[in-house]
Amino acid sequence: MLKRSKILVTGGNGLVGNAIQEAVKLNNTKEEYIFLSSKDFDLTSMEQTKKMFETHSPNKVIHLAANVGGLFKNMNQKVEMLEKNLMINYNVVKCAHDYKVEKMVCCLSTCIFPDKIEKYPINEDYLHQGPPHFSNDAYAYSKRMLEIHCQSYRENYGDNFICVSPTNVYGPHDNFDLENGHVLPVLIHRCFLAKKNNEDFVVRGTGKPLRQFIFSQDLAKLILIVLEKSNDNHTILSCPEEQEISIKDIAILIAKCFDYENRIVFDSSFSDGQYKKTVSINRIQNLLDTENLEFNFFPIEEGIKKTVDWFITNKYNN
Ligand SMILES: NC(=O)c1ccc[n+]([C@@H]2O[C@H](COP(=O)([O-])OP(=O)(O)OC[C@H]3O[C@@H](n4cnc5c(N)ncnc54)[C@H](OP(=O)(O)O)[C@@H]3O)[C@@H](O)[C@H]2O)c1
Repeated sequence: MLKRSKILVTGGNGLVGNAIQEAVKLNNTKEEYIFLSSKDFDLTSMEQTKKMFETHSPNKVIHLAANVGGLFKNMNQKVEMLEKNLMINYNVVKCAHDYKVEKMVCCLSTCIFPDKIEKYPINEDYLHQGPPHFSNDAYAYSKRMLEIHCQSYRENYGDNFICVSPTNVYGPHDNFDLENGHVLPVLIHRCFLAKKNNEDFVVRGTGKPLRQFIFSQDLAKLILIVLEKSNDNHTILSCPEEQEISIKDIAILIAKCFDYENRIVFDSSFSDGQYKKTVSINRIQNLLDTENLEFNFFPIEEGIKKTVDWFITNKYNN
């Protein structure tokens, strides 16, 4: 009889971890999934990390656990973000090798790619070809080391350790903290407060920068496809280039959910950051084509609506 896979998901109660929980339920999979958070094992500790592998003996791992945040947190907590992420990733990758994990998918981010890009779209080969933006260099270098660590085990020991780099993720269970969150959930929170207080919905910057956002449930499905089908060392996971959208249009879509479009104001005294960071999804598209898998990305209007509904129900209605 075929042995059932035991798949351990670190960071299993975060934005992406929750989406994987949903995707696993929908897949009706026969495999056993274990979703863990820092309350179960603190992965900055080698002892605790070993205990996690000994307790659960997974044969596959999806490694999501990380100290994550938006611009403000990245700039103000560099030491903590560097140290915690280096420790978590070192412990998890080393133990995955030592405890003979057959396959592991580790999460990087496209925000750790070089700041200066000569030719768009960005692809996987660009990762180490220049320094990251100064605002998130501590986080970025800790994540780049994760890629080097996985690649080294691939080269020296043949371990099937794979990295994926998502673009901006959004969805239910996101972090809506005004100081530490990413742009989209923070805009949702700001618009909610603006309407509640009958004030303008102020968006920092001109609204012109372009970004690719991926709905957490799409990302979850793609991570599971990578886990099952891919042996490639690194794959960018994003919505297609054509779905790149301006921050202004994101703000409008959010305001529409609150029926507050007429009160949007752009405060151009705040900097815009990079104008664009367009990434190519050729590698994941090739995998989907090879495996004959049809994949329809969630329309962003609907993804934002679902996220706003979740925010209102879970953060302000109870
Ligand atoms: N969000 C994005 O836009 C984005 C974009 C690109 C890539 N990513 C990557 O995607 C992955 C998941 O991100 P996310 O947005 O889902 O993050 P998240 O919502 O902040 O969740 C982080 C998860 O990591 C766990 N964790 C943090 N410190 C830990 C520790 N010391 N020991 C054990 N677990 C720990 C947290 O557990 P507790 O809840 O118990 O603290 C939580 O489950 C990360 O690797 C991130 O770098 C995210």
